[in-house]
Amino acid sequence: MNSQTVLEQDLFSPVQIGPYQLNNRIVMAPLTRCRSDDDNVPTEMNRIYYQQRATAGLIITEGTQISPQGAGYPNTPGIYNDQQVEAWKRITDSVHAQGGHIFLQLWHVGRVSYQGIQPNDQAPVAPSSIKIAGDYKQPHALKLSEIDDILYDYRNAAKNALAAGFDGVEIHAANGYLIDQFLRDGSNNRTDQYGGDYKNRIRFLFEVLHAVTHIWGNDRVGVRLSPTNPFNSMSDSNPEELFKYVVKQLNSFNLAYLHMVEGALSFSDTTTEIPAFDSRSLRDIYQGTYMANLGYTKQSANQAIQNGKADLVSFGDLFISNPDLPERFLHNVPLNKTNMDTRYGGTEKGYIDYPQFDFSYV
Ligand code: PHB
Repeated sequence: MNSQTVLEQDLFSPVQIGPYQLNNRIVMAPLTRCRSDDDNVPTEMNRIYYQQRATAGLIITEGTQISPQGAGYPNTPGIYNDQQVEAWKRITDSVHAQGGHIFLQLWHVGRVSYQGIQPNDQAPVAPSSIKIAGDYKQPHALKLSEIDDILYDYRNAAKNALAAGFDGVEIHAANGYLIDQFLRDGSNNRTDQYGGDYKNRIRFLFEVLHAVTHIWGNDRVGVRLSPTNPFNSMSDSNPEELFKYVVKQLNSFNLAYLHMVEGALSFSDTTTEIPAFDSRSLRDIYQGTYMANLGYTKQSANQAIQNGKADLVSFGDLFISNPDLPERFLHNVPLNKTNMDTRYGGTEKGYIDYPQFDFSYV
């Protein structure tokens, strides 16, 4: 190498997260697909789906409920019983056999639970009894002892994820699900130590983080945030103040990564206003490994990495329809279009039948 060569990093530069060296910086984002069985156990079809995508530098699984109470939709997988652990073990083995890495996303939906999903048809739980728009029940405001029970469920789920052979776990604190419901004041009007001032509203996130890092250590745990995403009727009176504080607190944890949903999900409801605050600015105060998400292309992702705006970039929709996304990026071959009709639920169609590119002609 010429000594004047400038080493530019891009999506294909290896990267260290925690104890792992990843082959590239192309991450498969967590994607709800609703194709586990009726008992919320991952299936053989789920195994094939993840194995097909194992050339991602890192796979983050779909949101996986920590308890039956944590479920919001039909046929999402869980990580609270032995059958689920065994089924996930087959998936992690398959991904590892391909040289890939896989984190499990730990999920509790809080108030965002469809009718008929909660055990015994009970009301979903939330920090406060503030209902989400649409066909959802009025949630039950959690008592302190019930919050403790959920922390126990996180800890148990984290242990199960370890037993299932995952490389790490991501704490889903984004997109209007339970932890985010505590963080933002549009869904949290508690008057105890979990509500009111933003320093109280972050308490639940950090209790979950302590519970999970106790099992995994800090460097195999990621956190996902979405400071300005209104999806699931979310809002906050001062997201800049709140999330700057959260990110500053996270600095001391030396986590595997911070995963940022940098805007509003495309299928967000429009009932709440999108704040002017640009969550990408949080990158500047985060001292650890930063994973950017939302609407990136190969070009914009490479640019973000070259400009220091991201260390890794996660892709959602593109991974649904392009199981070989890293190879397609590398060889500049056309991308398959994503069929939104087969996104949630259903069969192998639109799940494991997206074509791999024939690279023998490249
Ligand atoms: C969804 O089901 O559409 C969904 C689930 C989890 C998310 C975002 C969207 O974080």
